[in-house]
Amino acid sequence: MAVRGAGPAPCRVVVCRDCCCGTAKVTGVDHAAQTARLEAEVPVRVSACLDVCEQANVVVVQPSAAGRAAGARPVWLGLVNDPDAIEDVIGWVHAGGPGAAPLPDILDLYTFTPPRLGGTASRDARRVGS
Ligand code: FES
Repeated sequence: MAVRGAGPAPCRVVVCRDCCCGTAKVTGVDHAAQTARLEAEVPVRVSACLDVCEQANVVVVQPSAAGRAAGARPVWLGLVNDPDAIEDVIGWVHAGGPGAAPLPDILDLYTFTPPRLGGTASRDARRVGS
């Protein structure tokens, strides 16, 4: 449900799909359905490898313009391989996402800081910037 050119940047979701995310390397996930479900509900950009393949499937929730103005930074989510997690992402984006709505506790379990942003790709941080 991406709306282009319709006012300030909305909260949006980057979905990694490349060498690991979205492939048979991540078993037990209907990757096409996962992407389609997100695209049906929120603005989505599909990305090439984000260099954190050990976290596949990776989803990054980017703040809206208002969220960024409030100091929010993109929130990286790893191992997003459960349909319920996708629904939780959708719910958070609908609520406004980073900077506009609190990170749901359940999604906090998926957050990580990518190494290029100072993390260790472990679940050692709640919110990250880029
Ligand atoms: S394919 Fe998603 S992080 Fe590499």
